[in-house]
Amino acid sequence: MDRKIGIDLSRHIYEMQREHPAATGELTGILNQIAFASKIVHREVSKAGLVEILGLTGDKNVQGEDVQKLDDFANQVFLNILGKSGHFCVMATEEENGPVCIPDGYGRGHYCIALDPLDGSSNIDVNVSIGSIFAIHRKVSEGEDGTEKDMLQPGRKLVAAGYIVYGSSTMLVLSTGNGVHGFTLDPSVGEFLRSHTDIRIPEKGKIYSINEGNYPYWSTGVREYIDFLKQKDKESGRPYAARYIGSMVADIHRTLLKGGIFMYPADSKDPKKPQGKLRLLYECAPMAFLCEQAGGKASTGHGPVLDVEPTGLHQRVPFFAGSAHEVDRLEEFIRKYDRK
Ligand code: AHG
Ligand code: MN
Ligand code: MN
Repeated sequence: MDRKIGIDLSRHIYEMQREHPAATGELTGILNQIAFASKIVHREVSKAGLVEILGLTGDKNVQGEDVQKLDDFANQVFLNILGKSGHFCVMATEEENGPVCIPDGYGRGHYCIALDPLDGSSNIDVNVSIGSIFAIHRKVSEGEDGTEKDMLQPGRKLVAAGYIVYGSSTMLVLSTGNGVHGFTLDPSVGEFLRSHTDIRIPEKGKIYSINEGNYPYWSTGVREYIDFLKQKDKESGRPYAARYIGSMVADIHRTLLKGGIFMYPADSKDPKKPQGKLRLLYECAPMAFLCEQAGGKASTGHGPVLDVEPTGLHQRVPFFAGSAHEVDRLEEFIRKYDRK
């Protein structure tokens, strides 16, 4: 009997490499290590929810040990596993101030990685989807150890990027510059199996996704655009539906599959964050890479996110991503109302 068995992540990468013989096996190793780290985070995410629901923890878990905050935990897991993998020369994460060096005694590789180890952490306690995001560049600095220069490369030069969404199921969504593919974790075998081949964002969508509580802090262009989406017009499918989870990974995941537009604009709410909340290296560039690879767009409102030259590890940028039609229209509003 010929039973259909799923294609796991390793075999998928192997097949992609057969089509591109110039590729080294290093990327396979990297993605397997990311998948491994994410399985550990997945395990902890499901446990954290259960413990919360049962109310058994204050600061201690059921074994009487200190409960580590999940974002710290995820940060440690990714840095530990990836730092010792031999594939990277330097790393950076949302949780650490400067670039993270590779520990002594472990090999250095030809790649660097930017990480948002736990995205949407405000949703942990309420059992709503959260995620992890990664962005991989090739080393460009001289010498064995990597430097900040390796981390500060534009998204256009990404070799691979992706996210893991810890949702109703856990999924890894990935692009190595050859389309976007999704893998669902089968907990019974502990492997990511290919479930979504060549994800394409619909050319036009009917959903907008934004924290509308910030309305009074946005520019005129963004406010006018949101007002426009809520007007009645049968022909263009307005008003759009509103969906906002508050975990970028989950909001982008829905946008990739169903189309529409996800937005985190610049706002005047916090003078320390005039460019909005989302970080270029850990959040916006990798998600922009995935959106473009899926046939959609990602913009700062003034042009592609992938073309922004990073100036700092924790730099923030306004972010608008999703169906090409919606992102183009948003840019028109910005051009019309927010001319400097
Ligand atoms: P993180 O948990 O990594 O700090 O990221 C949270 C981000 C992102 O996931 C989400 O899109 C955004 O914060 C939500 O922000 P608001 O609560 O301001 O809407
Ligand atoms: Mn985040
Ligand atoms: Mn985070």
